[in-house]
Amino acid sequence: METQDNWTTFLVPYTQVVEELKVKLRGMRAQYEIEAKHSPIELVTGRVKPVSSILDKATRKGISKNQIEEVIQDIAGVRVVCQFVGDIYSIVHLLRSRHDFNIFEEKDYIKNKKESGYRSYHVIIRYPVATIHGKKQVLAEIQIRTLAMNFWATNEHSLNYKYSGQIPTEIKARLKRAAEAAFQLDEEMSQIKDEVQEAQWIFHQLKSKAHKKGGS
Ligand code: GTP
Ligand code: MG
Repeated sequence: METQDNWTTFLVPYTQVVEELKVKLRGMRAQYEIEAKHSPIELVTGRVKPVSSILDKATRKGISKNQIEEVIQDIAGVRVVCQFVGDIYSIVHLLRSRHDFNIFEEKDYIKNKKESGYRSYHVIIRYPVATIHGKKQVLAEIQIRTLAMNFWATNEHSLNYKYSGQIPTEIKARLKRAAEAAFQLDEEMSQIKDEVQEAQWIFHQLKSKAHKKGGS
């Protein structure tokens, strides 16, 4: 897999999986919005890992080129962001009940947060994608996290990038405190979840009534 063309060919099924998962998860959100008072899905994003990052990771972890497909789980990555911690487990439940892919592994970094302070729930799936050469099973990583966890992880990721993984001790300590604050925010919001959801439901109904009357 030396040439750019080979990489492009290799990544085609991964692009397909990311697109399909985004459609399916956004479809779930749309359905919740119509049928239920609250959608556990707030936001869905996805990306295919850039070739340079795949190569970096392979080198870092001593993965040979022909092992990449089986060992690197996040070449196809999708992120689901929720309002409340409880929503994360609702989504996991939903993913487990689906028949269009198989769950390969689950990593609960919420019950077992990482040393850095990172919290999220990861579900690694084996997704059958139809290609012009037939069916191909592809690994994909679904990260499920709250808005607060996402805010923290995004900022920490930027700092890691800036400092090439060697974040200064003082900033690291601050990040740990920020992770604790994000955790407290999630805890407090969970306590008033019902109140928040009721308010959002009322707002949602007012909006759709106004829409039906021809307002905006
Ligand atoms: P990598 O961490 O990606 O090398 O793979 P891994 O096999 O160790 O899997 P792990 O579950 O630890 O991490 C998978 C993904 O979770 C990463 O690629 C990140 O997107 C995210 N992640 C894990 N740990 C951290 C962290 O400390 N900070 C941030 N911002 N993201 C993290
Ligand atoms: Mg890791």
